[in-house]
Amino acid sequence: MKDVRQEYHAPGLTEADLLADPVEQARRWVDDAINAELPLANAMTLATVSADGRPSSRVVLLKGIEDGGFVFFTHYDSRKGDDIAANPNVSFVMFWGPFDRQLIVNGRAEKIPAQQSRNYFASRPRGSQLSAAVSHQSRPASREQLEADMAKLDEQYPEGETIPMPETWGGYRIVPEEIQFWHGRPSRLHDRFRYIRDGGEWARERLAP
Ligand SMILES: Cc1cc2nc3c(=O)[nH]c(=O)nc-3n(C[C@H](O)[C@H](O)[C@H](O)COP(=O)(O)O)c2cc1C
Repeated sequence: MKDVRQEYHAPGLTEADLLADPVEQARRWVDDAINAELPLANAMTLATVSADGRPSSRVVLLKGIEDGGFVFFTHYDSRKGDDIAANPNVSFVMFWGPFDRQLIVNGRAEKIPAQQSRNYFASRPRGSQLSAAVSHQSRPASREQLEADMAKLDEQYPEGETIPMPETWGGYRIVPEEIQFWHGRPSRLHDRFRYIRDGGEWARERLAP
């Protein structure tokens, strides 16, 4: 690992490249990654903190930037869901290596309206709907039991029938309080800009790398 060294060559990031609204700037970066067809361009590593102050992280998929927040879907009764119920402060990071770009968002997670989650659930492939319905996410499980439960549900809801969204499944919107844009530069003299919400406005500053 010590010998792994990557130089960053891409042109840097200046104030002039940045939009005043960091949420729209983040959308631009996510869109750039999606349009370039980078693998899992919308994957974000989400960190939560439990009631007793222990952090944990995992990858989830960003499914929209709506009403000023970042939306992902999950099981509300998962480990991350339990953490968010106790402490809505979360942080996520997205890294797009080929672009030398890192986006960090800190904010508060809130559940989106159930109808909005149902609409998204209905748009998912049938297999994803079935697996969401049988998975008690974050609980110990046996592969055999999961497959048996999925086969049973598959029979219960033949192709074409609506699979109801589990009550414990849905979306969160992360409403940002701080957003940071990092861009790799040669010799590790990277560019970093941080936006902090200041009342209704966003204040922006450059940070040392
Ligand atoms: C590429 C990738 C995408 C994932 N997307 C999601 C997702 O959108 N929602 C989700 O709940 N879990 C997703 N997972 C699984 C999570 O990483 C994690 O295992 C799961 O949410 C349980 O996390 P928890 O026990 O910490 O709550 C994804 C995993 C990977 C590797």
